[in-house]
Amino acid sequence: MPYKLLFVCLGNICRSPAAENLMNHLIQQESLAGEIACDSAGTSSYHIGSPPDRRMTAAAHERGIPMHGCARQFTTSDFEEFDLILAMDRDNYADICRLDPTGKYRDKVRLMCEFCTHHTLKEVPDPYYGGQKGFDQVLDLLTDACQGLLGYVASVKNDRHQSSCLDSH
Ligand code: 4NP
Repeated sequence: MPYKLLFVCLGNICRSPAAENLMNHLIQQESLAGEIACDSAGTSSYHIGSPPDRRMTAAAHERGIPMHGCARQFTTSDFEEFDLILAMDRDNYADICRLDPTGKYRDKVRLMCEFCTHHTLKEVPDPYYGGQKGFDQVLDLLTDACQGLLGYVASVKNDRHQSSCLDSH
């Protein structure tokens, strides 16, 4: 069973599809296809059905990262479906948590920047109303966070494997 990651931002056209496609790129590079599965969603309904933002796609292509996808809205069934839900900023985090009023899934929801090991920013800034520089900054941050996340998932999968080996003895 792959470990399932869901990246979430507001519109699902800039930050979260960039995170999803960057992570898929790293997964391919590390030959981990089948081990980790990625998807993305937006907390809003603003851009449902739209492809990733043209400016984000251009910035990603500059780095050799193909961008695929079609925006969808986060739904409560995602809490069960995914192992880890990565919010790009604190507003996204709060909007996701509001859909889980009992806090049942709170441990699954994390801020993406928690996984950065080089950058100190705590949130992935919304680049939508800014210039091209903002999109490059988002990709710098996401590259750092995705690398950290890859290490985290590898360790969780290893722990799960160890405990399933112990269970079978
Ligand atoms: P995203 O960026 O949350 O990274 O996809 C945005 C996209 C659209 C809007 C805001 C942020 N908007 O207001 O339409």
